[in-house]
Amino acid sequence: MKLNILRLLVVALACASAVMLFTNVRAQKSPVNPEFAVSLSSLGMAVPAQTPAAPAAPQEKTVDQTRKNIKVLKGLPDSQLGTVMNFIAISMGRRCDFCHVNKGGTWNWESDDKEEKLTARKMMTMTLALNKDNFRGSPTVSCYTCHRGRNSPQGIPSFPLPTPAPRPQPQATPAPGQPAATPAPTPAAPTGDQILAKYIEALGGQAAIDKMKTLVMKGTYAGFNGTAVPYEVDLAAPDKFYINATSPQGTIERGFDGKAAWEKGPRGVNELMNPVLDDLKSTFLFFHNIKLKEQFTRLRGGRKDKIGDRDVIVVNGMTADNHREQLFFDAETGLLRRRISYLETPIGVIPNQVDFEDYRDVDGVKVPFTVKVSSVEPGLVSTRVYTEIKLNAPVDDAKFKMPAAPAKATP
Ligand code: HEC
Ligand code: HEC
Repeated sequence: MKLNILRLLVVALACASAVMLFTNVRAQKSPVNPEFAVSLSSLGMAVPAQTPAAPAAPQEKTVDQTRKNIKVLKGLPDSQLGTVMNFIAISMGRRCDFCHVNKGGTWNWESDDKEEKLTARKMMTMTLALNKDNFRGSPTVSCYTCHRGRNSPQGIPSFPLPTPAPRPQPQATPAPGQPAATPAPTPAAPTGDQILAKYIEALGGQAAIDKMKTLVMKGTYAGFNGTAVPYEVDLAAPDKFYINATSPQGTIERGFDGKAAWEKGPRGVNELMNPVLDDLKSTFLFFHNIKLKEQFTRLRGGRKDKIGDRDVIVVNGMTADNHREQLFFDAETGLLRRRISYLETPIGVIPNQVDFEDYRDVDGVKVPFTVKVSSVEPGLVSTRVYTEIKLNAPVDDAKFKMPAAPAKATP
């Protein structure tokens, strides 16, 4: 048991370095101000799952068990603390040191020396009460509702006040004796199932999808700081993946053979555990963004929206483990343009968004050549741009297996 915990810790630390290398930012940058951000994992914090919808593992410890000075956020899974703190910082338009003590580069997270941290705790209590008393406990009001990226929210309107949009002109009344023009009946909004069926057709049809066995992709990966590095991904249905990213600091490889996930970098070979594994799976499982229907217990379709100048239809979904997601399909092509998963935390709902762009035909199947991840966590922000994608090219199965660790040099 003890050994297990130790192992997890080691893995968490190892992942920290990996995620850093993969993104070049996790350790240094914060969304608000680069200098002060921190690697949550280097603090011993688990790296939060990329898809916020990833459920907390049932045995997962909560922050009041793992942290030193938690008074309000009791019960929050430890893997979500980083996401929540980043969300708070973004809501306030500040960085971690607004509330936390940093002396000479060393963080003292548990310290209550800063007035702002005490205020923030009161604000958390207020936000929890607001939601409990008014929104049946669902985290509707968040720090962002009021703060909108500023530490001091504006409650008093300033002049000139915005002018309201002009009233719509009343319809011309029909001449006496003439029947009123009956408005054209609005076509019934398509159901979630219909939209998903159109998506499968748009991708190339079920038969073409059933023939998909491997994808070999090459391109670049850019993290939060925007520097693109060479990147390679090999996927094999249903769940094997191999990823290779080369940055000036070295090459990092990651793989999953359906059973064990691993990482090989300058520091050697490590097994990857949750929440990093869940995060990788949600990105690299072969049919994750193709076979959508089986991932949801409820799908409600129909609302119209826009992404840029394109019309989209939004489907609201509920996953088997009770997380909300929204799927945005191009109204014209039927292709999936955006997927947002929502992490419900006590202090607000935190989105994680993936955008799919530049769909091209690869041997009869449409594949997005650009995938962008947006997150409150700088370490999870990324843009993958592929220059070459091959369907069903042979991939050596050995690639997915954990490489043997190099023999230790005898002392
Ligand atoms: C607006 C204020 C505020 C900001 C900004 C903020 N935090 Fe916090 N943080 C808090 C409060 C308040 C708590 C204690 C919560 C409680 O008592 O339940 C806390 C707790 C923590 C803890 C647990 C400390 C312990 O051992 O008890 C860590 C770690 C942490 N924050 C990290 C961060 C990081 C990393 C950032 C920047 C991404 C950040 N925080 C930004 C207010 C803030
Ligand atoms: C209902 C609106 C509302 C919500 C929700 C809200 N705040 Fe505030 N917050 C305010 C207002 C208003 C002030 C300014 C109070 C003042 O000026 O005295 C403030 C001030 C603060 C301050 C002090 C800023 C400073 O400059 O010292 C902190 C820190 C803070 N809020 C954190 C939070 C956090 C963290 C959350 C989410 C858990 C949150 N707030 C949610 C309205 C809100």
